[in-house]
Amino acid sequence: MASDAGKSKAKRLKQQLEALAAAGVLDLPRVDRQTLQAPIVSAGMPVPTGPAAEIAETILLSRRDALEILSQEVAACRRCEALACARTHTVFGVGPTNARICFLGEAPGADEDASGLPFVGRAGQLLTKIIESCRLTREQVYILNVLKCRPPNNRPPLPEEVANCRGYFAGQLEIIAPEYICCLGTSAAHALLQTTEAIGKLRKRWFTHQSAQVICTYHPSYLLRNPAAKREVWDDMKMLMAQMGVDL
Ligand code: URA
Repeated sequence: MASDAGKSKAKRLKQQLEALAAAGVLDLPRVDRQTLQAPIVSAGMPVPTGPAAEIAETILLSRRDALEILSQEVAACRRCEALACARTHTVFGVGPTNARICFLGEAPGADEDASGLPFVGRAGQLLTKIIESCRLTREQVYILNVLKCRPPNNRPPLPEEVANCRGYFAGQLEIIAPEYICCLGTSAAHALLQTTEAIGKLRKRWFTHQSAQVICTYHPSYLLRNPAAKREVWDDMKMLMAQMGVDL
């Protein structure tokens, strides 16, 4: 017997596939990870042609459609009635659908609630600097939060709010299928890894979520309050970049 969670996931998948079929996507071909992760067009590179490029393009479009369907569900969500009443925008996530790495934060703050985009306030500016120190750009990474609505006074998410949003952030990660996930802070690490271990104990270790390798570090907001911890985050980023094969 399938569990209730399994049934509702299957129902959602069926609805997504029906929506994809209505949009003309009748078939989701299987390809190897290298083809899947290959960017279709990188800046300054010739546009690839041929069957592999066509397959990769089909998959990217399908991922985009699947994320669009999920983001529409999020925009209409009222599972946490208090958060839904107070929000200006839901904040779904942003980045390429074939990103190698996803950065998972906690929840939108005031700037994110106002704009509908993740990590655009002071913590977001610091996250941009961290990403750029890793010789990456924001445009190359996917950024999302555990919660899609702003909690009042930026308090940490409640367990029932995380449970209500789990299908959304887990769904995004399932669709994007990144190679790496970087959990920013306690809430993200606890929600993704379903642990209560302290963030200090979760650092400097590798975990897995689906097919992704997961690393945990301090949240940029914590760094704004404790700049001395930037050194530890830099150590975490070096560990991550070494694993990703990015030369710093
Ligand atoms: N903090 C988060 O965790 N996420 C944001 O989007 C902004 C601040």
